[in-house]
Amino acid sequence: MSNPSPDASLEKIPRHVALIMDGNGRWALSRGLPRLAGHKAGTENLRRIIRASVEFGVKYLTIYAFSTENWGRPPEEVRGLMNILEDVIDRELAELHKEGVQLRHIGRLERLAPTLQEKVLDAVDVTRNNDRLILNIAFNYGGRDEIVQAIQRMMKDGVPPEKVTDEMVSQYLYTAGVPDPDLVIRTSGELRVSNFLIWQAAYSEWYITPTYWPDFDKKEYRRALEAYAQRDRRYGGVYDEVANKNNG
Ligand code: IPE
Ligand code: IPE
Ligand code: MG
Repeated sequence: MSNPSPDASLEKIPRHVALIMDGNGRWALSRGLPRLAGHKAGTENLRRIIRASVEFGVKYLTIYAFSTENWGRPPEEVRGLMNILEDVIDRELAELHKEGVQLRHIGRLERLAPTLQEKVLDAVDVTRNNDRLILNIAFNYGGRDEIVQAIQRMMKDGVPPEKVTDEMVSQYLYTAGVPDPDLVIRTSGELRVSNFLIWQAAYSEWYITPTYWPDFDKKEYRRALEAYAQRDRRYGGVYDEVANKNNG
């Protein structure tokens, strides 16, 4: 599908970018600051990257903010991360809404405090008709957990085994209706998937940078998009110039 970008110098813009925002802790430690200061700096950066996504013409942005494994961190850090989500919604919702950003949550809400659950649901509801950018917030998200839940729901719905298809599984995931990520970006140099979109990213392109998340700026984001534009996506086939030209 062609997806003309408002930014003329970027000829092939990914429709869906997924971001593993990693390295907040190391960013803080390298400055002699507590880890939570890194998470706060990371949140400030997120605001810039959301805006840049709108400018670049990205339609879907999925951000990994808290994994199902992150509960294993020290309780003060977990609490801090919960508070940050709450603060972000409080501070940013009106502005994001005004800019036409639609917020969605992927992951499990159950384990979050009831007030936080309400805030998330309210933010999703308020912005549900926006369509400039769909922002999926992966919070208390795990790829395996998502697939386990999908299987459980298919079984509860009485789906006969022979009816289970690739498309059906996709429709049972949190991301139902969202195109698979074209590009996954991971900051801080770790070479692993850490349970993020393990089904959806089966054929995503990857961009990994050593930069810690709070320092991942618009310039570096642009470099990631430029790298993506140079990739030949083959999906197990052979290089097809026509398909790649049209594949945003
Ligand atoms: C990413 O930064 C944010 C979350 C996982 C919530 P980290 O906190 O993982 O930072 P590092 O990897 O320890 O530097
Ligand atoms: C992945 O980062 C999760 C988020 C960015 C929210 P982690 O820092 O938790 O991943 P590992 O532990 O290095 O794999
Ligand atoms: Mg990390």
